[in-house]
Amino acid sequence: MSTMSSDLPLVVTVTGASGARYAQRLLEVLAESNIHVLMTMSPAATQVIQQELEIQLDPNSVELQKFLPESDLSTIQYWDYRDYFSPIASGSHRTRGMIICPCSGGTMSAVVTGASRNLIHRAADVHLKERRKLVLVPRETPLSLVHLENMHKAAAAGAVVLPASPGFYHGAKTIDDLVDFVVARILDQFEIDHQLTKRWGD
Ligand SMILES: Cc1cc2nc3c(=O)[nH]c(=O)nc-3n(C[C@H](O)[C@H](O)[C@H](O)COP(=O)(O)O)c2cc1C
Repeated sequence: MSTMSSDLPLVVTVTGASGARYAQRLLEVLAESNIHVLMTMSPAATQVIQQELEIQLDPNSVELQKFLPESDLSTIQYWDYRDYFSPIASGSHRTRGMIICPCSGGTMSAVVTGASRNLIHRAADVHLKERRKLVLVPRETPLSLVHLENMHKAAAAGAVVLPASPGFYHGAKTIDDLVDFVVARILDQFEIDHQLTKRWGD
């Protein structure tokens, strides 16, 4: 795995698994931390966002401010999910790594087969081939053999499989605490400082 440079942008993509709030919170924290983010989301992600957060987004023209109403978006650049002219479609555009949060079973399958049918799949393909960090945040239960085998393949290809599976041992009291638990684990993968959860032993 290549050395991460904290000056490079981070790719954040959102797909149609349950857990839209994880993506929203992750992006809020990255914006607060002034981290340069390159992002896109799938049409299914907009459906889940509508269902879970009651925010209506047009998948063909996403208005990011509606998804992140509290955030300063000056550090976030957005591309359409079909736009292969986006810098993240090419390995020559250097990044700090990529996160798919949440990651649907469908996108996990496309990632491990190199399907590249949209910009999310292509950017994941690029991160694997360039040996850059790729963090997948699946949310499904129960897991079929297909899911488990795809996760195995993703891990074998070099990705980090980080299920949206919050722990309760920090004294979680609210849904926000559980969301922050998962977001904290994602940020830790990129050594991004945060105060979202107390560290065990501190
Ligand atoms: C409300 C809602 C919740 C969903 N939850 C999940 C889920 O938790 N995990 C999953 O893998 N797919 C889930 N799906 C199905 C995916 O959205 C669907 O497989 C879609 O094709 C994924 O496309 P994408 O990977 O391009 O985003 C959900 C769909 C909807 C509408």
